[in-house]
Order: sequence, then C-alpha cells, then structure tokens
Amino acid sequence: MEQRILGRTGRAVSVVGLGTWQLGADWGEVGEHEAIAVLDAALEAGVTFLDTADVYGDGRSEQLIGRHLRERPDADVLVATKMGRRQEQVPENYVLDNFRAWTDRSRSNLGVDTLDLVQLHCPPTSVYSSDAVFDALDTLVAEERTAAYGVSVETCAEALTAISRPGTASVQIIVNPFRLKPLEEVLPAAEAAGVAIIARVPLASGLLSGRYTTETVFAADDHRTFNRHGEAFDRGETFSGVDFATGVSAAAEFGELAPAGASPAQTALRWIIQQPGVTSVIPGARSPEQARANAAAAALPPLPQGKLDAVQSLYDRRIRPQVHDNW
Ligand SMILES: NC(=O)c1ccc[n+]([C@@H]2O[C@H](COP(=O)([O-])OP(=O)(O)OC[C@H]3O[C@@H](n4cnc5c(N)ncnc54)[C@H](OP(=O)(O)O)[C@@H]3O)[C@@H](O)[C@H]2O)c1
Repeated sequence: MEQRILGRTGRAVSVVGLGTWQLGADWGEVGEHEAIAVLDAALEAGVTFLDTADVYGDGRSEQLIGRHLRERPDADVLVATKMGRRQEQVPENYVLDNFRAWTDRSRSNLGVDTLDLVQLHCPPTSVYSSDAVFDALDTLVAEERTAAYGVSVETCAEALTAISRPGTASVQIIVNPFRLKPLEEVLPAAEAAGVAIIARVPLASGLLSGRYTTETVFAADDHRTFNRHGEAFDRGETFSGVDFATGVSAAAEFGELAPAGASPAQTALRWIIQQPGVTSVIPGARSPEQARANAAAAALPPLPQGKLDAVQSLYDRRIRPQVHDNW
C-alpha cells in the first residue's frame, strides 16, 4: 500500500490506516474475537497506522492493540493514541503532571516505553493558544514518554492555531465528502508546514456507505443513537454533524458517483486520500470485511475531475448550509 510521511514524526505510514474507536466502545458491542479479527485483517491488508485513544473502552482499545502488536514484533506499525478525555474538560487539567500520568497509563496499556504519537483529544479551544501546554508537550518528548505529539481538533480555526506551533507533528480533523471546509485553509497550511493531516470520520460515521435508510436503527449504546444532537460529545462527530435524514438522501446521490468496481465507502476514502495535504485516512471498521474493503481503496485509481466537481456540487447544494460555518 502507498506510504506517506506522517508529518514531523518523519515516519512513513499507510495512506489508509485504521480507526479503533469501534474496538473500544460507543458503537454497540464489538466482541474481543471480532476486534482481534479486525486488527488482523487491517494489518494483513497493508495497514501500518492505527489510531486509538485512552478513552476508547477506557483503555480496552489500547490494550487490544498493545497485545496484538507484541505478538507481531516485526510489524512496523505506528500507533497514534490520544489523551485528555478521561477527565473533566476544563483547560486547568491540561498540565504537565496530568500529561505525564495520562501518557504513563497509555504506555502501560500499549506495553511500550515510548508512545509513537500522542494527540490532545479535542481539548477546550483555549488549550491550543497556551504556551505552557506546548512547553509541557515538548517536555513529554524530551522525557521520551512519546516520540512526537499532535492534536485532534473539532474546528478549522483550532487546526490552524495548532499548525502554527513548531512542535506539532500532526493534526487529526474530520475530512470527507460531507466536510469540505478543511480543504480551504487547513490542508494547504499543514502541507506548507510539514504537518500531517489525519482524516477522521471519513465515512461520516458510515453514512457515506449508502447502506442506511431513514428507518435504520442503531443500538442504544451506539453514539449514532445517543449523540445525534451532541448530547454526549461534539455534535460534529456523529454523522459529521449532518442531520440523519439529509445525510441518507445525500449519501444516495454520492453513491451514484462510485466508479465500476468500487463501493460508495471506497469512493469516499479514495476521494479523501487524493486531497492535497491529506497524509492518511483512518476509517473505523466493525468487521474484518470492512477493514479489508477500506484498505483496498488505496489501490483504486484517482477519481477524475468530473467526479470531484460533482462532490463539490453535492456538498454545496445539500450539506454546506448545515455544517460549513459550525466547524
Ligand atoms: N475526537 C476524535 O479525535 C475522534 C472522533 C471520532 C473518530 N475518531 C477516530 O476516527 C476513526 C474513524 O472515524 P469513525 O469510526 O468515527 O467514523 P467512520 O470511519 O466515518 O465510520 C465508521 C463506520 O462506518 C461503517 N463502515 C466502515 N467501513 C465500511 C465499509 N467498508 N463499508 C460499509 N460501511 C463501513 C461502519 O459502521 P456500520 O457497520 O454500523 O455501518 C463503521 O463503524 C475512529 O475509529 C477513531 O479512531 C477520532
């Protein structure tokens, strides 16, 4: 699979990675056997980049990944984790002592001395403007608790603030055919600064697969049931902030753009990885079949200009009014 340098980490990663929120919680039950099968399928398909967080299953996702990679010492996989959302979301919690404690827990869960990459996990906005926060992150690197740090953000403004910091290795942000705003300023700024862009929620929580109807019901413990209006965390995370009925209908139109031999989900991933400035895309997978299909998107030919224009038109007509000014 195509490899790209993950920004200031200097390390190469697969252009399609794997998001592992599903292996922790909040997406209905994904049993341990299934979770391991998802990791196996992704690695066998050439994925060398995993995204996790200390809060996914309160450490379950990190522990599963740690165990899995220990059994494969030759697999050259970069694991990005995140920290900060196991505690109250106030700027006062983003201090060196907490960073040390949080990364120590992730190091233990993953079974490594030094994390590959730790990301601030969508902290309060003021955290991105704090010199003390970035000094503390530099200290984590100096102490070899982590090889590099990055941020996961909700808004384009937060991304631009983080990109201006010289130590920021990567920015994780929602980019998909229903979330085009990062293409305007964030992707060019990241590319110019040598900061990686990790594209998350690439399928708009599955909407872009085109498999859902307005009758689709998700499990009670799936965020697609309980966070549609931002009840538990930022509304922009669930279905990319698009109202479900609008998303189902726009996804049907998107599906008509899929080239022969490619599914709508693969078409969305292909569209993302050909956006200049994107380093890697991290679809979540709930089954080995999904993990394999997502990895295969890396081998599809680039979408022609006519299809790119059609995505822009779909966004402008149906999605832009709901999301563009919010994130
Ligand atoms: N704040 C943050 O930093 C943050 C927030 C959100 C996500 N993330 C990261 O980003 C990753 C990806 O985002 P996400 O998981 O929220 O959303 P996503 O990747 O847009 O959607 C994942 C869902 O799409 C469906 N799907 C996946 N592959 C498919 C395929 N090949 N064909 C059809 N359907 C498919 C599955 O749902 P069904 O099987 O139910 O249809 C799956 O659970 C996460 O795992 C996590 O690592 C980070």
